[in-house]
Amino acid sequence: MSANPYDQVPYHCQPIEWTAPERLALCSLLHGGPAPDLQQYRVLELGCGDGANLLPLAYYRPQAEFIGIDGAATHIDTALGRLKQLDPCNLQYHHCDFQQAESRLDGRFDFIIVHGVFSWVPDVVRDALFELCASRLKDDGLLYLNYNTKPGWNIRGMVREYLLAHTRAQPSLTEKIQQARVAAGKMTRSLAEESHPYSKLLANEFQFVCDNHDSYLAHEFLTEHNHAYWRSEFMSLANHFGLHYVADADHNYSSGRTSPSLYKQIETQDLIGTNLNDTVDLVSYRQLHTPLFSKTPVGIPHPDPDILINLQVASCLQAIGPHKPHWYQHPNGYQVEAKDNGLLYALDRLLDIWPRSAPLDALLEHPHQFLDDLILLHNNGLLELRLAGSPSPQESSDFNPLNALEQQWGNYYTTANHQRVELQTHYNSVEPA
Ligand SMILES: C[S@@+](CC[C@H](N)C(=O)[O-])C[C@H]1O[C@@H](n2cnc3c(N)ncnc32)[C@H](O)[C@@H]1O
Repeated sequence: MSANPYDQVPYHCQPIEWTAPERLALCSLLHGGPAPDLQQYRVLELGCGDGANLLPLAYYRPQAEFIGIDGAATHIDTALGRLKQLDPCNLQYHHCDFQQAESRLDGRFDFIIVHGVFSWVPDVVRDALFELCASRLKDDGLLYLNYNTKPGWNIRGMVREYLLAHTRAQPSLTEKIQQARVAAGKMTRSLAEESHPYSKLLANEFQFVCDNHDSYLAHEFLTEHNHAYWRSEFMSLANHFGLHYVADADHNYSSGRTSPSLYKQIETQDLIGTNLNDTVDLVSYRQLHTPLFSKTPVGIPHPDPDILINLQVASCLQAIGPHKPHWYQHPNGYQVEAKDNGLLYALDRLLDIWPRSAPLDALLEHPHQFLDDLILLHNNGLLELRLAGSPSPQESSDFNPLNALEQQWGNYYTTANHQRVELQTHYNSVEPA
């Protein structure tokens, strides 16, 4: 059996919505960072696994070039098998270790994506990755990565230590997974009888183990390397390699949203400690952080209104009805009030064309006036700002050959704007391809 744990238990990869180039570019733009041109661009994914993220990206974006690198032969074999079935000519995979990847690449990239890798490799590989990203990223390019975050991840780290100790005697990774699942199940049931908040927190983490698929257990809880970082510590590391923080790629998703009032509250109540961001992570129980970096330091972290005016907007907010005039509801149940008649009219027009978008200046007579409100709604996930040139999402009934394959291997399909739509929710019934 191969020594590579990803060959022993392949990772069950999935498309990550906010890694779509147009979403990364928009996120950067909204925070005053660079936004690569979407007419033609190059994307590199390091640790691309079985290609579940790259394949839909490439399939819907024929104008761009995509390259994936991964060190697990099983992953690359799966990725190549899937590629053959669809054959987009703008996607290539290379089987190689990150430490040898430099010589396998040509040129620089507008976007580099590294999801689920930085915390899970030894320090020497992490530094090689940073060097590779810094040398291969264009000056106005964007690097996306994520890592396990302290101090919130420490709770998961405690569970990991317990499971590692509990499964040490098992001879194979597969047996360790089975043993870990049994142990986590017993612990969850035992803690369920306790009412103390600590027991509830811990029970929640053990339940998380039970609910996840085998490959997640193997590579999050039973892996040799899993290093969580304080945000300030990780930012210093990135700065050392000439990379500058732009924004959180998932700032407008529930996983990454932080209330601006939390920052103010921590400051005014004199709670900062050594670092404001670290303290925000502490009080918001953040376990994973998804920063976006560029080689150019961000000047003023605000968007340029003259660029924003060229954005498109898509919305499925629906008027509640005559009993609550001016109020709109999102399918998630959240309600917002729109005070201006022009905005009311625009929201009604947008609902008619959802999920397609319309240019801001075609929708509103004085779009500048509404930029702050629209950004607020976007940041709260209530409507979508989009960059011109973003792929137009298809209607849910438009199943294409990619979707048919995704349904076979993972019970989901990916839309053109990189949303993963789940067809079945139980992970345990999904086996890696
Ligand atoms: C946890 S998986 C994440 C896969 C995918 N990015 C995702 O998030 O679904 C980590 C990936 O990094 C790859 N990897 C880890 N260390 C590597 C190395 N030294 N060289 C090349 N690939 C490596 C593994 O083979 C695996 O596919």
